[in-house]
Amino acid sequence: MDGNGRWAQRQGLKRTEGHAAGEEALFDTVDGSLDLGIGWLTVYAFSTENWRRPLDEVRFLMNFNEGLLLRRRDELNDRGVRIRFAGRRGGRVPGRVLRRMEESEELTRHNRKMTLVVAFNYGGRAELVDAARGLARDVAAGRLDPEKIDERALARHLYLPDVPDPDLLVRTSGEYRISNYLLWQLAYSELYFSEVLWPDFRREHLFEAIRSYQKRERRFGAVDSD
Ligand code: FPP
Repeated sequence: MDGNGRWAQRQGLKRTEGHAAGEEALFDTVDGSLDLGIGWLTVYAFSTENWRRPLDEVRFLMNFNEGLLLRRRDELNDRGVRIRFAGRRGGRVPGRVLRRMEESEELTRHNRKMTLVVAFNYGGRAELVDAARGLARDVAAGRLDPEKIDERALARHLYLPDVPDPDLLVRTSGEYRISNYLLWQLAYSELYFSEVLWPDFRREHLFEAIRSYQKRERRFGAVDSD
């Protein structure tokens, strides 16, 4: 959900007002995804690197995340959305934010129409480090033979091992980077870059990305059979 700060600055607003404007973009994207029958949607809300931002902005983002969950979780629940979080729990994330996250997961855990994964205090490298620690613990406890460590064993230690790898990654705001996002899971994802700044993003932009995806040919490292 990139481009909030630039969107705000272009209109002479504070950066944080760009994040606030991103809420409508997020909910229009969620609605559009529900209409299309998309079962899994993951959004990058706060990265492990975002702690380096000015304290004011970090504080705003924590409060905003908490407020957004309080304001919108019933609505998401009514629409059959299951909310889950990927990232490091704890650390510098305030306890009250963690509680709202846990409550939202609990409230929506039986929903199956769509799973909305919110990557929060998330970093792709941190996730791989945490997975390596999990494997090391299993080896130390005698539960795992190091020779048996394979891709499936590592994938079982990711934050949300049951979430399928993304078919499509959409990055907004004209940046052409992965920025430490889902490094393992994006191995064979199709990438789509949009010039639109996140607060202006609407379901039509998602549909455009999906139309582009539908023209791609996915081979997963193999060759065409015909
Ligand atoms: C990046 O824009 C955006 C963020 C760091 C936060 C995005 C978060 C939301 C829209 C709220 C979502 C919350 C939940 C709980 C789903 P930027 O500040 O990097 O923009 P810039 O690149 O223009 O500076």
